[in-house]
Amino acid sequence: GKRVGVLTGGGDCPGLNAVLRAITRKGIEMYDHEILGFRNGWQGPLQGVVTPLGLDDVEAVLNRGGTMLGSSRTNPYNEDDGVAGIKATLADNEVDALIAIGGEDTLGVAERLSGEGIPIVGVPKTIDNDLEATDYTFGFDTAVHIATEAIDRLRTTAESHHRALVVEVMGRHAGWIALHSGLAGGANVILGPEQRFSVEQVCTWVQRRFERQYAPIIVVAEGAVPEGGEEVLQAGEKDAFGHVRLGGVGTWLAEEIAQRTGQESRAVVLGHTQRGGTPTAYDRVLATRFGLHAIDAVHDGDFGTMVALRGTEVVRVPLADATSALKTVPLQRYTEARALFG
Ligand code: F6P
Repeated sequence: GKRVGVLTGGGDCPGLNAVLRAITRKGIEMYDHEILGFRNGWQGPLQGVVTPLGLDDVEAVLNRGGTMLGSSRTNPYNEDDGVAGIKATLADNEVDALIAIGGEDTLGVAERLSGEGIPIVGVPKTIDNDLEATDYTFGFDTAVHIATEAIDRLRTTAESHHRALVVEVMGRHAGWIALHSGLAGGANVILGPEQRFSVEQVCTWVQRRFERQYAPIIVVAEGAVPEGGEEVLQAGEKDAFGHVRLGGVGTWLAEEIAQRTGQESRAVVLGHTQRGGTPTAYDRVLATRFGLHAIDAVHDGDFGTMVALRGTEVVRVPLADATSALKTVPLQRYTEARALFG
């Protein structure tokens, strides 16, 4: 058998442990491989922090959120001698192949390392579902369920108090979580980052809803930007990494609605609750299938590839595809949803 290293990088995502379990079980039992878990994304191979993963280690993790290996956003290309460090760790531990589970950043590093001769297979992961190379990523379905449940709960309190409720969901570049949870929860307005939104139009839908004696629910993605409002929203709103802070647009929009319509309104920022806790059955199945196919790719020596869902089949695509394009929501999908707004 081979010695196969595995790591999870970037934001955590429900289903990561299910991938690790599938890799470990199939790797050991079917292929007689040894599995080594590197800690905290690329930090593990950079600093040589590694633990063997055995069958017992993955026994009770299938339904557990987060990642048993830990994660980080460390990028070896931003470190002095990062690549040399990784090569040294892999050589010291006699690692024959590496499986990197991550989003755009982690897989971007994997692709570059693959170009430098390191045998790598990628597994895509993000709750945002915004990777073009795969039809779905695990974690997305769980995030949509959590946001939908929140909308259902917020609706009863909004109705009781005759208030507008703005629900801010995750999605910096793509509005998939906003669109799907908004449709599933019967939101009265859905706003994504793909297209500037008009506050005036939002207020028209809000008023129309109040006129019918119902309370409006407005779902807004964290990355959504009002017409002409980018500067207003982003001034002073960036964190140390240059990311726009969660909660910026939701809070701003609730205040704007109150001022313009005279109706009471509240903002709820779901934030990291959308990434926490147990994965849905759909995500467990997808994560498990990705894990099984990733260890197959390693076994076949098919490196520089990534597993992906195309329709209902798990296929292998070039690692480069993971970072080639962001899959945003086609504008037509918002337009068709408009029939249900207000
Ligand atoms: O990519 C997943 C994601 O949850 C995005 O939806 C969000 O913009 C970002 O990560 C939040 O990052 P952090 O966990 O570092 O605050």
